[in-house]
Amino acid sequence: QRPAATVLFIFGGSGDLNLRKLTPALYNLFIDKYLPEHFSVVGIGRSKYTDESFRERLLEGVNEFSRRKDGPWNEFAPSISYLQMDGGDAAAYSAISDFVEARKQEWGESPNVLFYLAVAPQLVPGIATNLAKLELCGDKSHVRIVVEKPFGHDLKTAQELNTLLGGLFAEEQIYRIDHYLGKETVQNILALRFANSLFEPIWNRRYVEHIQITAAETVGLEGRGGYYEGSGALRDMIQNHLLQVLCMVATEAPISFDANEVRNKKVDVLNAIRRIQPDQVKDVAVRGQYGPGKVKDKEMPGYREEEGVDPNSATETFAAIKLFVDNWRWEDVPFYLRTGKSMPEKTTVITVQFKPAPSYAFPGEATGSWEANRLVISIQPAMDIRLRFQAKRPGQTLAIDPVEMVFSYKTAYDGQEPEAYETLLLDALTGDATLFMRADQVEAAWKVVTPIIEAWGNEAPTDFPNYTPGSWGPQAAMDLIEKDGFKWMTK
Ligand code: BG6
Repeated sequence: QRPAATVLFIFGGSGDLNLRKLTPALYNLFIDKYLPEHFSVVGIGRSKYTDESFRERLLEGVNEFSRRKDGPWNEFAPSISYLQMDGGDAAAYSAISDFVEARKQEWGESPNVLFYLAVAPQLVPGIATNLAKLELCGDKSHVRIVVEKPFGHDLKTAQELNTLLGGLFAEEQIYRIDHYLGKETVQNILALRFANSLFEPIWNRRYVEHIQITAAETVGLEGRGGYYEGSGALRDMIQNHLLQVLCMVATEAPISFDANEVRNKKVDVLNAIRRIQPDQVKDVAVRGQYGPGKVKDKEMPGYREEEGVDPNSATETFAAIKLFVDNWRWEDVPFYLRTGKSMPEKTTVITVQFKPAPSYAFPGEATGSWEANRLVISIQPAMDIRLRFQAKRPGQTLAIDPVEMVFSYKTAYDGQEPEAYETLLLDALTGDATLFMRADQVEAAWKVVTPIIEAWGNEAPTDFPNYTPGSWGPQAAMDLIEKDGFKWMTK
């Protein structure tokens, strides 16, 4: 069943996110017949476009970024309009009401209205305040607002933003996006864990030695210096994406897939994360910043030479942290998280390392490459799950080798998985908030990283830049895990 008639307004309509992600996602939903029968999407921005020139611009985006490019664009394009307006100009908002009213007349039904705020964070309060004044926003069951990250700059600003939005809209209307939650492979973590009887009995401190989550990118800033310089790897990736992935890995089984039930369980995980004391930060958190060099034969400027970056910047482009989840399931199992720009490869991967099996019965030569079992969940770009286990090497001697059982999306399915934004936009259209962040989730995640932010803020690093592009980050990140007897793994 398709969602009800909807008008979707995208603030920041002429911006990058709409071009690269939102319109391609809507277009794919259109091709797959998931969009409402009656549907309009309106880009809002200050740039000058006509409906026609705006559609042409978006088509360029589709041609470059959509996973499908040969669909019936001409059938989809008429549902796109452009509204040139300044989000800070309260008087201009009547154009929104007029647009909705016109669609209502045309369609003979009152549409749902979705506001997507794909704008710089400092513009969110003003736009949300102006929107809430519109009469149509009084209809709480038919109006939703989608807010992009970053959601706050720290705990205090996130709380302020939650208070402000909470005063304007009901929590059920607010959809805070974390696009990692829309990724097929991230959603599959819950299926893997709770639709199988195989993994859950050993998914705990008795059998799991440690867990790693790596999100590495080869790219540097890609022209986003203005934003990134005020953010850094901890805020940009760990506070949101990586902690959400951790929640999927660590959560207790939900009783249902009801939005609040799933989110309650995830908040439990965040609340169980052991608070890092100020004097412990240096032992459990490492930061890095890349200097100039090469990634895959491509010359990269050092971070401090990028546009919009302070030549003495203390912003980290790499972060690695160690956490504990203090509950019955996970007490004393370390979780290692790392992320960075200008790394050797683009890869997001979760490694569940199990404790070794006893080897006493095997002769010494058989145990040469003895390995403990490991489950490797590749989120992207490879989308697969590998279970590494031990097998006997064929032959007359008893030798044991690690081998793999692999589930790959590419071979199991046709490689046409929806993109994260397709899933999330469709959920927002149908009113399913399961994969969106609730206010308390965002705040709980900020609480986890706050001690690190504070410690790093109080003490400027003296050794930046401290890693070369194309490497796996500073030596201290290796030391962080190696001092516990483990190694970072991506396979
Ligand atoms: C965004 C960050 O949220 O996620 C970017 O702001 C980062 O800095 C991006 O590059 C990574 O997303 P993905 O889906 O490519 O892993």
